[in-house]
Amino acid sequence: MKGRVDFDTGAIHGEVVHAKRTAGELAHLYAGPVENPDAVVYETHSEAPTGDEPQMLFATTILYPGRVGDEPFMTRGHFHIEPSRGEFMVTLRGTGALLLRNRSGEDRAEMMAVGSIHQVDGQWAHRVINTGDEPLVFLVTWMSDCGHDYASVEAWPNGSWSGR
Ligand SMILES: [Fe+2]
Repeated sequence: MKGRVDFDTGAIHGEVVHAKRTAGELAHLYAGPVENPDAVVYETHSEAPTGDEPQMLFATTILYPGRVGDEPFMTRGHFHIEPSRGEFMVTLRGTGALLLRNRSGEDRAEMMAVGSIHQVDGQWAHRVINTGDEPLVFLVTWMSDCGHDYASVEAWPNGSWSGR
């Protein structure tokens, strides 16, 4: 067994790395100023890769309810550098939206609710927003050799990809 996930808190009991992102660290994503830079926007519990061979990995994200101006709390979002590598997401708690945008600028969104399963095509950048008033908890699996391109997403105008 790889571990045990608590669906309420999103914590994984097992060999994982725990990380937090605050509103201050993510201020560049938002159109307006951040009033509470110490607010935790999301936490992750991620399996760490071992060895050099590509492997499937898993993680949970706990995306808290909250806003910066009129934009909901959101994850950074990224493209996969290797477009043949997609990922799966499963919602464990809360409500949100999976925002998708390809390199041609086409947008799509999928509503996230408890039990919803989402398959992300590797050609689409993906970001999650919390649309509810409780933590949004979701499980993700991906291949370790997908590569993460955050810079392309961060070059988009602030507020252009936030579900407003
Ligand atoms: Fe991804």
